Formats: sequence, C-alpha cells, structure tokens
Amino acid sequence: MTAQATASAPELGGTARAVDLRSDTVTRPSPGMRRAMAEAVVGDDVYGEDPAVNALEAEVAALLGHEAGLFCPTGSMANMLGVRVLVPAGKELLCDSVAHVVRAELGGHAVLGQVSTRTWTTPRSRLDAELAMAMAVPDGGPYLVSTAAIAVENTHNFGGGTVQPIEELRALRELTAEVGVAVHLDGARLWNAHVATGVPLAEYGSLADTVSVCLSKGLGAPVGSVLVGSAARVAEARVWRKRYGGGMRQVGVLAAAGTYALAHHLDGLAADHARAQRLATAIGSANERWCDPAAVETNIVVLALPPGPVTAAQVASEASAAGVLVSVLGRSTARLVTHHDVDDAGVDRACEVLAGIAARAR
Ligand SMILES: Cc1ncc(COP(=O)(O)O)c(C=O)c1O
Repeated sequence: MTAQATASAPELGGTARAVDLRSDTVTRPSPGMRRAMAEAVVGDDVYGEDPAVNALEAEVAALLGHEAGLFCPTGSMANMLGVRVLVPAGKELLCDSVAHVVRAELGGHAVLGQVSTRTWTTPRSRLDAELAMAMAVPDGGPYLVSTAAIAVENTHNFGGGTVQPIEELRALRELTAEVGVAVHLDGARLWNAHVATGVPLAEYGSLADTVSVCLSKGLGAPVGSVLVGSAARVAEARVWRKRYGGGMRQVGVLAAAGTYALAHHLDGLAADHARAQRLATAIGSANERWCDPAAVETNIVVLALPPGPVTAAQVASEASAAGVLVSVLGRSTARLVTHHDVDDAGVDRACEVLAGIAARAR
C-alpha cells in the first residue's frame, strides 16, 4: 500500500484535527505565507517576466552556489529535468535501489528521458562512493550501457531521513570527475541535511552538477521545487520544462510562498528533528523491536515491525482511529514524518497513541 493509499480524513469529529504524520507534504500555507502569495508582484514566467519567480530562482541558485535556477511545479519534474540534461537517451543513471527517482517517479526517467538505470543497495540507503563507482561504466562502447550520471538523495526519504555523509559525497565528486560521470543531487530535503549537520548548502551544492530542492516538504510551501545548475544546463532544462507542459505564467504567487518559506521556516526544521527524536524514543521505549531512536537523523521515523501478526496497516488503522495518521510503506513498515504543522502537543498525542500500540504488541 502506498503512503497516499493510507490517507484517511484528516478532520476528526467536531473541530479537532488529526495529528498528520504521513508526510511533510501535508502542510498548509500559514497566514503569513498566504499574505506573501497574495501580495506577490507577478508577470508571465514563460516570457521570463515574473519578478517573484526570478527572485526565487536567483536566491536558491545563490544558496547552492550554482549559476542559475529553474522553478518547477514538483520535485519529480525537477529531478526529471536534472537527469534529462545530464543523461543522453540510451545512457544510464546509477542510484540507490529505493531512490525516489527510480521508486516513486513512475518510470518518468525511462518513459520521457529514455534513461536506463541500475541500482545499488546499502543499509539505510547511506551512500558508499566506492560501491557506487564500482558500478560505473563511463564508456561502454557498443557493448555495455555507458554511465552518464549518478544520482544521490539527501536526505534519503525511503532510507528513513538518512543524511548522506559529507566525506562520501566529496569522494563521489572526486571519483566521478576523474572519469567524466556527472552527479545529480535529489535534495528534496537537503534543507533537513543542512540543518542537521551544519554543512553549508553551498558545499552540498558544489558536489553535484544539478541539484533539485523542494519547497513543499519541510519548508511548508504548498507547491514548488527549484532545479539549479550551470546557466547552460538550466537553459536546456527550461526548454524541456516547456516541452513537458511545465511552462507556467503568473506563477509568482507560488514562488512567493517558497521565498517566504526560506525566510521563515528553515530554522524550524531543527524542531522537527527534535520532535522526530521524541517520537522514536517514546515508541522505542515501549517496544524496542519497532524503532531505534539512534537511527533517526532528521524528521523521518521508520517503524520496522518484526515478523508476526501485527501489520503496518493495522498500526495505521488503530492510530488513525485515535487521531494520529501514519504512512504504510509495506506489510511491516510504517513511516512517521514531523513537519511545520505538527507542534509539541501533537507530538505528545502521537507519542501516547503510538507508544500504547507498540507496548500492546510486545
Ligand atoms: C526524496 C524525494 N525526491 C523527490 C520527491 C518528489 O517531489 P514531488 O512530490 O513534489 O514530485 C519526493 C517526494 O516526496 C521525495 O521524497
């Protein structure tokens, strides 16, 4: 069952709202964000004339130390465009076996980009640069698929919010540069990695040729991602964005939400991480076989249920009945994600409900 398939009505009876831990994408724009959106100065972005979009693209490119940025409606499109400009048709992209680009973009890179993929597997999807590079075939000639790029996800969603070690990212950059293989960084939650480690965003940016970042995850904007890269690559991505039907007009109303989120919500990610830690500690204390708090690095908590009669779907259903929503990622895997719209009181409630369920399953 997918995360989406577990969704149930977030409104409980009366005015009470469920504590929605299914994803950090469920946030709603705050009043300040809505004001910023309403007041945005806009223009036709296909003509390059939307000041709010231009400002956001320039801001994100500067934060990540790249020449140019491109506002995209979704992280999937930003990834698709980033990979598109790095990997010619018929060549390959290497990535982790549960990377969003291969697991959750519905084959888009193959269907639209004619990109071939091969994957590696590591514990918690933590990057091992040597292992990744051992798979690379920069020039396969007429015999093997040639590797054009490697994709890294930071933080790693299905890995459980894993922060990629900066030494491994540096090693990957060096090893790929030696053989002319490019790097795409899926940084949908790069903000969380930056806040968790203190590694500057520009340093992460310097270790990839293209980077996608999302404004609609932990930062709490309703929509929007930015792809950054060299001016030439971003110009090419802009052409492909239009070709894919992603040319947008007075879209500064959405970009303004992203600019507001960067100014007001980035620091709040540290609180999300602390709340995830609190959830993991409560659940792990109730049943240490369900969750290891030491494995929680950012805002994602994975519950890995041991073999037995209790399924993740049952946990989600029981929690939902008590007003706490979680995602089901497999028969025995559930996921909780903290975010801008879950406060301390919500986490207290979730700790009580989920620790209760975990204790009864001991
Ligand atoms: C790591 C990662 N990359 C990319 C995406 C895609 O973002 P979107 O849902 O905006 O297409 C997601 C979505 O959750 C994600 O977790």
